[in-house]
Order: sequence, then C-alpha cells, then structure tokens
Amino acid sequence: MVAKILAFSGSLRAASVNRKLLKLAASELREAGAEVTIIDLNDYELPFYNQELQDGGFPEASDKLRELVEAHDAVLIVTPEYNFSFPAVVKNVLDWLSRYRPQPFGGKHGLLMSASPGFVGGNRGLWALRVPLECMGVHVHPNMFSLAQANKAFADDGTLAEDALSARLKSLAGDFVSRVDKANA
Ligand code: FNR
Repeated sequence: MVAKILAFSGSLRAASVNRKLLKLAASELREAGAEVTIIDLNDYELPFYNQELQDGGFPEASDKLRELVEAHDAVLIVTPEYNFSFPAVVKNVLDWLSRYRPQPFGGKHGLLMSASPGFVGGNRGLWALRVPLECMGVHVHPNMFSLAQANKAFADDGTLAEDALSARLKSLAGDFVSRVDKANA
C-alpha cells in the first residue's frame, strides 16, 4: 500500500519560505514513493476553538480536516517558529481535531520541518510541536529538518542551493516513507 501523506504549512502567507520548503519536501516524498496531498489552511475557515461551537456541532472546516487526516497514514507539517514555539493557526487545527473520537491523529506518523531566516531555522518551534502531537498519539519521526537562513537557501528552481542540505532532505524523505511503508506492510 502506497504511503499517503497529508501535508500543510503553518504559514498562511503566499511568499512564505515554509510553503517553499513544503513544496520541495512533498516532491522528495513523492520521489520516495509516497502519495502526498498538500492542503492550504487558508482554504479552511476554522474558528478559534470554543467548546460552545463544538457543543452545537463541529464546524464544517474541522469536519473536513478530520476526514483528511483520517484518510492519510501520515502528516507532514512545515511551519515557522513563532516566539520559540509554533503558530496559533497550527495549534487551533490540533485543538479542534483532538476533540473527535476516535482521535483522528491517533497512530498516524508525523514528519516535522521548519524554515526561518534566522540561524536556528525554526527548530525550537518543532520541539514545541512534538508535544501536542505526541499527546494525540502521533508517531513523530525522530529526525526533523530545519532550514536556517531560508531567505537565501533556495535556488531559482525551488531546490536547495546547498548540495549537502538537498541530500539531507532527500535522505530524510526516504527514511520517513520507509517507516510508513513498514508500518503499512
Ligand atoms: C517570527 N519569526 C521568528 N523566527 C525565528 O527564527 N524564531 C522566532 O521565534 C520567531 N518568532 C516570530 C514571531 C512572529 C509572530 C513572527 C510573525 C515571526 C520570524 C519568522 O521566522 C519569519 O517571519 C519567517 O519568514 C516566517 O515564515 P514564513 O511565513 O516565511 O514561512
């Protein structure tokens, strides 16, 4: 069974470096044999979590996201670091989905990446993101990918200018797809 991966960026802006990295990572995962569905969180009008809204029936956007997560084996999240953590837009998705039973994220595999113009590449945000994902039963891949100085890291064709970084991204994508394939076997 082909590994099915749902992928989204934690940045909503069009010129986002994380969206660039998402596109590239998705193409590496596809090369490694996975089927990747990229979604744009701008397309989901998800209100801020409020239990009163849940009590009246889940919003359509969270139902759609739940279906998408359930239909995939794994998630790829490529997100900026905001104040050493991860953006509220991602947390809001996690909080909404965490309220369904069975837990949509339970038993899924997770691959985390970040990009930042800074020197740490947004890596601290990924450590924060692991916590709620693990709380919901996601098997978060031990290796993560953080792209530092991301405003200078891409070549014109959207690949990474530095060969060593390209090779690392490719190898991580291959490892992750093998992990999901093994679990599916
Ligand atoms: C940032 N940025 C940032 N960068 C970083 O490396 N560590 C951080 O803690 C933060 N904190 C932070 C908070 C907020 C609210 C904003 C808006 C930005 C800078 C951030 O990495 C930069 O704007 C990236 O370009 C955002 O990612 P996208 O939108 O380009 O994908």
